[in-house]
Amino acid sequence: MCGIVGYTGNEPAIDFLLDGLARLEYRGYDSAGVAVLNGGNIAVEKTVERIGSLKRQTRNGRSLPGRAGIGHTRWATHGAPSLANAHPHLSADGRFAVVHNGILENDAALRRELAAEGVAFRSETDTEIIPHLIRRYYEGDPVAAVAKAVERLAGSYALGVLCADCPDRLIAARRFSPLLIGLADGATYLASDVTALLPRTRRVLELADGEIALLTPQGARLFDREGRPVEREASRVTFDVGAAEKGGWAHFMQKEIMEQPQAVAQTVERRISGGEIVFSGLRLDAALLSRIRRIAIVACGSAYHAGAVGKYVFEELLRIPTELDLASEFRYRNPLVGADVLTVVISQSGETADTLAALREAKARGSHVLSIVNVVGSSIARASDDVLYTFAGPEIAVATTKGYSTQLALLYLFAVWAARLLGRLSADEAGRLLDAIRALPQAMERALRLAPQMEDLASRSPTDGSIFFIGRNLDYAVAQEAALKLKEISYLPAQACAGGELKHGSISLIEEGRTVIALDCCDRLSDKLAGNIREVQARGARVIACVPEGRAEPSAADETVRVPAVHPLLTASVEVIPFQLYAYFVARDRGCDVDKPRNLAKSVTVE
Ligand code: F6R
Repeated sequence: MCGIVGYTGNEPAIDFLLDGLARLEYRGYDSAGVAVLNGGNIAVEKTVERIGSLKRQTRNGRSLPGRAGIGHTRWATHGAPSLANAHPHLSADGRFAVVHNGILENDAALRRELAAEGVAFRSETDTEIIPHLIRRYYEGDPVAAVAKAVERLAGSYALGVLCADCPDRLIAARRFSPLLIGLADGATYLASDVTALLPRTRRVLELADGEIALLTPQGARLFDREGRPVEREASRVTFDVGAAEKGGWAHFMQKEIMEQPQAVAQTVERRISGGEIVFSGLRLDAALLSRIRRIAIVACGSAYHAGAVGKYVFEELLRIPTELDLASEFRYRNPLVGADVLTVVISQSGETADTLAALREAKARGSHVLSIVNVVGSSIARASDDVLYTFAGPEIAVATTKGYSTQLALLYLFAVWAARLLGRLSADEAGRLLDAIRALPQAMERALRLAPQMEDLASRSPTDGSIFFIGRNLDYAVAQEAALKLKEISYLPAQACAGGELKHGSISLIEEGRTVIALDCCDRLSDKLAGNIREVQARGARVIACVPEGRAEPSAADETVRVPAVHPLLTASVEVIPFQLYAYFVARDRGCDVDKPRNLAKSVTVE
């Protein structure tokens, strides 16, 4: 949710802090701050605006000299976005500064305890407790003090700590919140996300849950919960730094929409060997699969919408009953899962708190958990029995596009692979489906050529009132994603309704001039949807239909968007593209901050 950076080395710390924060701003952007250690004192600068204003406030960093520092970009949980609540937070004597990602669960009790000792709190945050606790336990060894403080914390944290007595050191600690250490010659970095580190180093050490690290310009020493040294080899990040930059596009979202064919091709082709789907290292085998009586797909937001497509495809190909659940509902509903249920968890970031908690719930009940994740080594990936990575590359825009598309591609591949293993699909049928999946990137390329038409439609889009997306089956799954895309970045109310459900209530919202987008790629149900189109038109709606190229019958709609025709089970992959573009153009034309929509953050690491 929030982003953390830290630096200790031979250069001014502020250069990396400001650059790193700008790269992490997509994770949370309602306020930000930095703390730099100089001449035995910690200086802090904060803003309730964007990182750009922190640059101006510090005269591009010149007002904050010093070679060790920490920084934070915030997505408010405890207390409104304000200077007082922005991180870093200081101990009462100003000798410790702390940045924190995560959420404490025993903050109220700790606050009372510290207040009783005379600590006067300056913010409403849970984080401020931490520097006060560290100060209380400090007896000359900052690592020991941090270890004692974190022992008192319930909940999740990734911490960067600066101590005024230690001129070139940083202390880091984590539990259930990601934190990485970057190693370079003469500099050691801290970041909650690898995108901040990439321009400086590719040598990365991942801190494990419960560990503490001491960072110096020469490197990092790791300690486990009991304070014993931990040896770990640094790993090398292989993906391209350019992948995390805009590369000439106006927005990351636009770039990521355009990258989808390539991202899907990578995700698919890496799994194919000798014309067969190969998932190397998967523990799930024919024996385990044959014991599965039900599949539970669990995710949040767009990943949940990918799961909605997965449900149709799984039931069609595997003939195994498949349930779809929102992670935040699943985790609290005493779910009926056990050893005969396969839980499929979907998450781009691999850090979504509700999804992770649902995963743990399923595992605790004996279910085999297979996750579909983009971020390698993320918490969800590590906690799962099996992981399939999507290889979408870093996704920076808050609204997901290539994350969603690559999730779809993996769901298709997994369904074909598992159906073959269970003997529910002949080699010929599987071969035909695999060919159709491999042909998707070209079809997606062609769908991207609809950009001018979608830009034109967006320019004529209503600026008030609700936009409806209707569809049936797979089209309804896409309708939900299309509506979410539009509302989250353009702030226009948009809703998805299953075609057959309209007359059970939502049709009362249809009136003269209302825009209804009818997703009509499911040939089998096109006649049924035509009935729904006529129903809304009769009440004054203007209907834009999305149909496959080559469909013979004319659509009753007022305007038509034609997407490439693909295999009937795979239509979501092409159908979603024009409506990602539509949402993008509507938001851009309304002057919205496309990559950083209000109130949102990229990975939702709080419940
Ligand atoms: C919407 C969007 C969110 C995420 C959701 C789950 O564009 O990006 O709805 O899909 O927060 O995130 P992950 O996939 O990281 O678990």
